[in-house]
Amino acid sequence: MIFILRFLPLLLQIIMSLRMATSGKKPVGPPFPLFTRFPSKIERAGYKLYNYVDNSLYPVRPFYFGVSLAASAAYFSRFEDSSTLLQLVPKFGEGTAAQCVRVGIVSLTTVSLPVIFTRFILRHFYFKYKRWLFENPKKPSTLTKVWGMLRSLLSLSPPLLKSCDALLPSLPVPALEETVQRYLESIRHLHSKEELAAIDKMADDFLKGEGPKVQRFTKLYSLFTDNYVTDFWEKYAYLYTRSSLMINSSVAHVDLFVDTPATQAVRAAHIAYTEFLSHLAIDRQTYTPLGGGLVCACHYDKMYAVARVPGEKIDHLENHGISRHVLVLFNGGIYRVDVVDEKDRIYSIDQLTDIFIELLTRPDTKVEGAEGRVPALTHDKRSEWHVNRHRFFECIPRNKKALKEIESAAFVISLTSEENWDYDLENRDTLSRFMKSMLTGEGANRWVDKSLNYIVGRNGRCGGTTEHSIADGSEFDHIMENFVWMENEIVDYPPLDVQLAREKSFNAAEAEGRVKFAERIEIEVTQEMGSEIDRCFSSHESSSRDVDMASLVFRNWGKGRIKKCGCSPDAFVQMAIQLANYRDQGRFVLTYEAASSRFFANSRTETLRSVTDASCEFVRSMQDGGKADRAQRASLLRKACELHSTHNRDCMVNKGVDRHLFVLFVMSQATGTSSPFLNHYIQQEWLLSTSHVPNVTNTMKEDGEFVDKSWLGASFGAVAQTGYGVCYRFAGNHSICAHISSYHSARNTDSYRFRHHLERAFLELSALFD
Ligand SMILES: *[C@@H]1O[C@H](CO)[C@@H](O)[C@H](O)[C@H]1NC(C)=O
Ligand SMILES: *[C@@H]1O[C@H](CO)[C@@H](O)[C@H](O)[C@H]1NC(C)=O
Ligand SMILES: *[C@@H]1O[C@H](CO)[C@@H](O)[C@H](O)[C@H]1NC(C)=O
Repeated sequence: MIFILRFLPLLLQIIMSLRMATSGKKPVGPPFPLFTRFPSKIERAGYKLYNYVDNSLYPVRPFYFGVSLAASAAYFSRFEDSSTLLQLVPKFGEGTAAQCVRVGIVSLTTVSLPVIFTRFILRHFYFKYKRWLFENPKKPSTLTKVWGMLRSLLSLSPPLLKSCDALLPSLPVPALEETVQRYLESIRHLHSKEELAAIDKMADDFLKGEGPKVQRFTKLYSLFTDNYVTDFWEKYAYLYTRSSLMINSSVAHVDLFVDTPATQAVRAAHIAYTEFLSHLAIDRQTYTPLGGGLVCACHYDKMYAVARVPGEKIDHLENHGISRHVLVLFNGGIYRVDVVDEKDRIYSIDQLTDIFIELLTRPDTKVEGAEGRVPALTHDKRSEWHVNRHRFFECIPRNKKALKEIESAAFVISLTSEENWDYDLENRDTLSRFMKSMLTGEGANRWVDKSLNYIVGRNGRCGGTTEHSIADGSEFDHIMENFVWMENEIVDYPPLDVQLAREKSFNAAEAEGRVKFAERIEIEVTQEMGSEIDRCFSSHESSSRDVDMASLVFRNWGKGRIKKCGCSPDAFVQMAIQLANYRDQGRFVLTYEAASSRFFANSRTETLRSVTDASCEFVRSMQDGGKADRAQRASLLRKACELHSTHNRDCMVNKGVDRHLFVLFVMSQATGTSSPFLNHYIQQEWLLSTSHVPNVTNTMKEDGEFVDKSWLGASFGAVAQTGYGVCYRFAGNHSICAHISSYHSARNTDSYRFRHHLERAFLELSALFD
């Protein structure tokens, strides 16, 4: 009986979920619940508490835990005299109260122990086990089979967004020699013989000298944190950076192949609605976690209602929890748009459309001069913006209040007068311009500190700019894929003529009864502030002009064709990039691909170094004037791809190079240890910086009749002033979208030229397998 009691919560839950699992298919629903009400403070505290309990008990749900607790209490109170367990608790008093406490203690212990035990197994086996990554999926080992069974069992109790975070393993510090060895292997083709000899010597000295000492500090530090990289990484890779965020740090995206038939007001209303619900869903943890909870989800809280506040030496993030309003930038004015009415009802898309129509047709909205370019201040270098933020906002009460409204908004929607953003099969530069505009902005139509800025053009085309310190590609993709899902499957667009007719017959007086209109946030612009605004605006203008962006939507074939060649699609594109870059630059360069380390607690990214012996051998074989035949080249390509994929998996299991060396460098600085090797390491420039935008939710329909509903992807500014940035994604099974950035001021680069090389490389690589 006691045994059954102990496992009651798990048993109950398994029986219930088996019943549910066998009772029919899930209907196709939205990616998150479509709430109609904004939670009150009490309600929010309630679900936060519930989620906390749920996360602490997972995989057992609080309901089953509660029922079992009650059953067990009933049992023990009934058999109080005969229960040996109860006898173990000393009698510390007479009367019913004391008796109740004793029963309570025993019941709680009986029911909790198996939960603790189950969580222990999950933590130390299920979430740690990674060998399946390296096995042939067709021939799994016994342990992998056990792991797979656990996985199916767990899928009966689907985790909330952050249920598994506390169960993920901490990031261990890799062995020093191994990291240094991997580093030396990865740079063999990037330096001359003499340079290599010098680096080898430095590495040797490091391992014999200061290395072990910094490693000891690192290990010691790692004992006090679940992730020895993330804090340092967020500080030094992001928050300490003093240069301006636009172009340098923020990332950009554009929308779908097809131009959604929507007016500017209707598109803006859709974005406001979907993203607002996404914001609430994250707060309630009703966002479906990726990989069934195997990957860390702790950074989602920073996606909405967050502002990066500039400091003198270091910035910090201010999180405003959940917000009732969004910020709208239009015609030089800054507006507050409430997405919720006074009775806490969330506005429908229709109501939001009214709000945007009214604002867009409101007379005399144009704000001229510096007053109409206030957001330009946020495009500045961080320390300068810190000073300006202090003297122009914090020291002027009215502006201080305005700033609070701005920074606490859920996100920003910028309505621009641009009419020509598009993806045009006939003219590629249309998309290049569209993407470039998302990356650079127009100088005063982003509130750069805000985590998410969405931009809507007059033709209804949209895109966005995202601040990068808050999170990485996988979170951004997740949000974007959910957005595409909502757009394509859940919300409707009325026919364009109906939308236009509605705008024509729009009656503001009538609409005012139904919604609260956009409210202008007034900012007092002093003369000094005005000249600072002008300075920021023109300085950003020249940075923008310098960006060279070329977009490529390669439509001959997609990932299906690559898989048929026996290559991993990501590795294949990486090899094409290597070949294109070699032809473009005449040499191999240090290459960065963002890789995931998300299997660990509180983790962000690792660097996947794409240049390897095998990749160079392959590229050389393509440039050898026909010495190697097609079969040889194909085999070299397969080998290079295989090695790349292995390195990718290595990064996932903490066998990378860069984050470890980065922390060692930080430690050497912090402890005043001079290290020529680490100094050399940190000065290397990533001349080729790449990122693959993966399919994270597997929910977007992008094939067959949905080809035009594919998402065009994202981009970022080249990391090095004389290098390239390449961001790519596979659109369904049919296309590859790549966006190439560089700077006009660099003599050695040209994004259009690189695009040409890349396209040629795609065709040549694929032809090897004809
Ligand atoms: C970043 O921004 C600064 C201006 O703040 C600029 O000088 C610098 O060249 C930019 N680019 C990079 C890659 O740092
Ligand atoms: C993907 O494309 C390849 C050919 O390019 C085709 O053979 C394969 O069946 C496609 N897969 C899907 C799931 O459509
Ligand atoms: C993403 O996954 C979905 C569902 O499996 C698939 O239909 C779609 O083509 C995938 N997209 C890409 C880019 O692989």
